[in-house]
Amino acid sequence: MTNNTKIHSLRFITVEGGEGAGKTTLIEHLERNLIANGMTVVKTREPGGTPLGEQIRSWLLAHNDKVQIKARAELLLFLAARSQHIDDVIKPALDAGHVVICDRFNDSSVAYQGAGRQLGVDWVRTLCDIACGSVVPDLTFYLDVDPLIGLQRTRRTPKENSGVGEVDRIEAEKRDFHERVRLAFIAFVKNEPQRFCYIDANKTQNSVIEEALQVLNKQLARDHV
Ligand SMILES: Nc1ncnc2c1ncn2[C@@H]1O[C@H](COP(=O)(O)OP(=O)(O)OP(=O)(O)O)[C@@H](O)[C@H]1O
Ligand SMILES: [Mg+2]
Repeated sequence: MTNNTKIHSLRFITVEGGEGAGKTTLIEHLERNLIANGMTVVKTREPGGTPLGEQIRSWLLAHNDKVQIKARAELLLFLAARSQHIDDVIKPALDAGHVVICDRFNDSSVAYQGAGRQLGVDWVRTLCDIACGSVVPDLTFYLDVDPLIGLQRTRRTPKENSGVGEVDRIEAEKRDFHERVRLAFIAFVKNEPQRFCYIDANKTQNSVIEEALQVLNKQLARDHV
């Protein structure tokens, strides 16, 4: 681990956005870029990242008429998965000097459960802080996409638990749910401009990647001075 003893400010990066915004695609490029800069990277995702988290993910995303999940229970399941994820994956990786890139994190809970499900953004943020302790992202890319465009993209992509054209339990929510989620994310960017990097993800994949890598490289360059 050559460069890992170097103290750099970019340690925990999260990528947020609506369905089909291009999060997973971007993360591949961020990872490659960080590795090219001599860093060791741990790439992970939410919900999931641990055996318990993956189990909870399957409960949260699958359609199951026999098992209803109410909004508060849904939030607590996400937070249970995240708490395990922090203890077993994220914190150990950060302590070992790796850069962690996480596909969704607390901001998704606050946007989806706080605003989408209308549990209240402040209340959900407080619960997230309790579940996560001191683990806060250093940089968060928010990929902003019109929900209609994003959902069209996801329908063209085969999923782990379903085929092309199928949508998971949360994607299947109505348009106004996804609009509330989007507006919440936009408000987070305004409230925390120092942490967030806003990217218009309605644009082409190449332009999204280029813009994000520019921001990443700028921050890396700052670390080297
Ligand atoms: N800017 C873009 N323009 C057009 N298509 C894109 C863009 N970004 C990603 N895609 C395509 O859209 C699909 C969804 O992208 P991706 O899986 O990266 O999104 P995601 O945000 O991770 O989705 P999900 O919410 O389902 O996890 C993929 O087929 C990807 O190639
Ligand atoms: Mg994805």
